[in-house]
Amino acid sequence: MCEMSAGQKMKIRRLTLLDYEKMAEIWKRSGLPFKPKGRDSKASIKKQIKETPDLILGAEENDELVGVIVASTEGRKGWLNRIAVVPEKRGKGIAKALIRKAEEALREREIKIIGLLIHKSNSTSIKLAKSLGYIPAPEILYLTKRESDDV
Ligand SMILES: CC(C)(COP(=O)(O)OP(=O)(O)OC[C@H]1O[C@@H](n2cnc3c(N)ncnc32)[C@H](O)[C@@H]1OP(=O)(O)O)[C@@H](O)C(=O)NCCC(=O)NCCS
Repeated sequence: MCEMSAGQKMKIRRLTLLDYEKMAEIWKRSGLPFKPKGRDSKASIKKQIKETPDLILGAEENDELVGVIVASTEGRKGWLNRIAVVPEKRGKGIAKALIRKAEEALREREIKIIGLLIHKSNSTSIKLAKSLGYIPAPEILYLTKRESDDV
């Protein structure tokens, strides 16, 4: 439990499928590339929660979900995805707390490299990542092959 201002308490907990609608709302409000027909669909999130319940985390303030992170790993590296905090609760250390908890869970899985992909224009997130020790790799080009733009 993390003490915030004026008696407010923030806790990080594992998310369940019951949190799905609220997670989706936070991602949409945060302008993230939410993919409800692909990796953010209810079925896909259900599978991710079943396979890696320790990596799908939410921040709650006074029992209200205010932040989300979906970490993942294929066994070689860990990834931090879909980090978002509701606009009215930003700047209070919630994203930092979520990232630290996800890093802890990845470390417990013996993951030693953690990455995150941030759009070059997202200076807030770049500052956040750098403040937690993440180092940019501008020499690397990110290439993907997608079934469609919806996934
Ligand atoms: C990025 C985001 C998750 C940060 O959430 P947050 O809870 O406000 O972040 P924190 O309060 O934990 O801030 C941690 C650090 O990030 C940086 N940071 C956060 N907000 C910042 C801002 N508005 N301007 C500059 N730096 C900022 C600071 O380095 C800060 O550390 P400090 O307070 O010790 O200086 C939030 O702004 C958000 O949801 N953005 C929209 C979605 C998004 O872009 N997600 C990331 C995709 S990669």
